[in-house]
This record gives sequence, C-alpha cells and structure tokens, in this order.
Amino acid sequence: MDPTLLEWTRMVCPVCRAGGLRAEVGVAGAGGEIRHGVLRCGHAGCGAARPIIDGIPILVEDWVEYASSERWMILRRRDLPAAIGAMLDAPLADDHAEVIRRRHLASYRASHFGPPAPEAAGLSGEFAAFLEGALGRFAGRVPGRQTVGLDAGCATGGYTAMLARHLDCAVGIDLHFERVRAAAEECGAAPGAAFLVANAEDPPFEAETFDVVFALNVLDSTALPRRVLDSLMRCLRVGGLLVVTTPFDYSTMYSARKDWISEPELMGLLARDFEVLEDRARLPWVLPIHGRRCDVFWVRAVAARKRAGAGGRSVMVEPIAVPGLVTFPQHRGCLPAGDARHDKQDRRRAVGLLRFGRRGWRPPRPAQQAETRQAQGNGGERSGFGNGRDPGSGE
Ligand SMILES: C[S@@+](CC[C@H](N)C(=O)[O-])C[C@H]1O[C@@H](n2cnc3c(N)ncnc32)[C@H](O)[C@@H]1O
Ligand SMILES: [Zn+2]
Repeated sequence: MDPTLLEWTRMVCPVCRAGGLRAEVGVAGAGGEIRHGVLRCGHAGCGAARPIIDGIPILVEDWVEYASSERWMILRRRDLPAAIGAMLDAPLADDHAEVIRRRHLASYRASHFGPPAPEAAGLSGEFAAFLEGALGRFAGRVPGRQTVGLDAGCATGGYTAMLARHLDCAVGIDLHFERVRAAAEECGAAPGAAFLVANAEDPPFEAETFDVVFALNVLDSTALPRRVLDSLMRCLRVGGLLVVTTPFDYSTMYSARKDWISEPELMGLLARDFEVLEDRARLPWVLPIHGRRCDVFWVRAVAARKRAGAGGRSVMVEPIAVPGLVTFPQHRGCLPAGDARHDKQDRRRAVGLLRFGRRGWRPPRPAQQAETRQAQGNGGERSGFGNGRDPGSGE
C-alpha cells in the first residue's frame, strides 16, 4: 500500500467513521510501499486496527467476521507451479468453493484484461468504449487539484485502471480478497491505481471525496443495493460523474427481493439529484466463461452528474438513537429495515461466506434499524445463465 492513499481518498476508520487512520509498517515493500502492516484509527475511544496484507488494506467494519470467512483465501498458497496446483485442484468437485471462486476470478481477469474471443470482439469492446467515452467527455484532470475516482465492486480492477488513466488517481474496492490482490498485481504498474478490501455499503471515505464513481454491474450482485447506491452517491463531489451499469440480474442468493432496485426506481433516484448525461438502454457487457463460452448481459448504462444542492436527501434514513448505545458522530448506520439477522446472512452469502467460518448469530445492533420501504417492482430474477456471473459466491 502506498501511504499517500490515506490522504487522497480521505480515508476514515470503517468502524467509527470519525477517525483518520495511521499506518504502522510491519514489512516495507519497494518504493515506500507497505507490504504488511496495520492501519490504526486515531479516534479516542475507537482505536480499531485493520491489517494490510500483501499490500492490500482490509478496511471492513467487522474484522472478526471477515477474518473467519476469508482467512482461507488470504492464506491460500500461491507459490506452487501451475501444473502442481492443477493436480491439487483436479479432485475437487465443480461446485467446490475454491473451484467456483477461481473460475470467477479467471472470468473477471479475462473480461478486464484478456483479448476478447474473435467472434465476440465487436460486442466486447462496447462496454469499455461507453466508459471511455463518458470519462473523455465529462471527467478529467483539473488544474490546481488532484482528481480522484472510486470503482466500487472493482473485482480484478480493469476499470479502476481506466479511471486512473483519465484522472490523477483512482481506488478500487471489493470484498473478495483474491480479486483485490489480483487487481493490485495486474494494475501495479498503472500509475495512480490503488486497491483495498472495503464494503461499498459503507465505503471508508469521507463524503464528497470523489470526482468520478463507478458502480459497474454491482447493484444486482450485492446484498443491499439501495444502501450501496446511496453510499456511492454520497461519496461523490457535487459536479462529479456517477456511472452506473446494471443488467438488473438479481438473485435471492445475494439480496432479498424487497431490496432490489428496479429500472424505473433507479432512474427515479438518479433524476432526483443527478443530471443524466448519457443513457444506453441495452449495452452489451461480455463476461468470458471459458474458451467456448461467453455470457452477454444487456446492461442499462447511465452516466450522470451530481447536481449542486444534492446530498441532503438520501435513499436511507438516519439511525434511531438508542439510549445506552455508543454512537460515533459520523456514523450514519443506515441498514434497511427488516430483520438484521436476515440482512447479515444475505451479506455473508453475497461474499461467499456461509460455507466458511460460520459463526453463531449475534443480536443486531439496535441503532441500525429503520428505513422507509420503497415500493418494489423489479427486473427479472437472475436467469438461468448458469453461474457465469458471480459473482461473489462460493456457495
Ligand atoms: C458482477 S462483479 C462486477 C465487477 C466489475 N465491476 C465489472 O463490471 O467487471 C460485482 C463485484 O462486486 C463485488 N461486490 C459485491 N458486493 C459488494 C460490496 N458490498 N462491496 C464491495 N464489493 C462488492 C463482488 O465481489 C464482485 O467482484
Ligand atoms: Zn475508529
């Protein structure tokens, strides 16, 4: 991790959201980077510490849950020659979590960096061309200050690197450790691109930090789509560019039906505080699965600019104060209504956690209740494309 990341992302503690973070170097890497270390919150009464592993800061709120579920991925050997690794993996069943996660990792790598299948080359280029076009027309460098981008749900980081080419710097966040590590490896040479493990539901950055925010194909593969969209809108500066693409390919494996943002709802939410600059109803997003298969999703792709005065309203409501509960000043704590236990299980499913490190249920934190319910009406449930799309699951 480059220590300047703390400043240009205006990073805050993922636990109290009030404190800044201080880096403690364990093992230094090349050029002032931190290979392994700790980020510690400076807020009195918090002091939360989160690790930097393999250069990747892991800035999740609930470290115990994350460590107990992703530990196996973080510690997985990567030093074996491919042929020996393949021998080790060969006996695993197709639905084994390692096989699924490796397959998805390979898919995102191929989608972000690989040459497209010749037959699909035309379609494959359109998604990136839309993004390049929107960035070229509506974002860029500004004299006198740094421009910064956020790629939420970055997977292997190809679009984070694109952001970093158009702006001064960009950060990609994702909950899958191995995807984030792959992103850092793939994009290590890209100037200005950085990666960390963090939850897009509550990204650990101050409000109005970013000039551009990408939410690419993430809303329908996350546990709490409204909360993710709300948080990302909040991270964006006034006048900043939000690019949302989604095939609305929801699945109850990742999110509860009541939490799905329909196509009209998405456009309505954007219209409140954003000026829509570009809107493509059906843009092909191609995800290579293997040498003889590509999945094509027809995504709605919108580029929109945040209006002045936006930000007061929110998809979510503020938390209810509960006597006796320690609250931190900037923590909005806006979990959608409903059963927080169910919510947590959904979230665990979304990052493929259930099979690993299952822990007993703990009572929900009472401050995090309450939300106005939105009328539903959504796009189709995830269709039978097989499991090419993810995304995240080791289920
Ligand atoms: C379908 S993939 C899209 C990847 C990339 N944006 C693209 O368009 O190729 C969705 C990604 O979002 C990540 N994701 C889902 N929920 C997330 C959350 N709450 N916070 C951060 N990442 C999340 C998944 O791990 C996955 O890598
Ligand atoms: Zn803190």
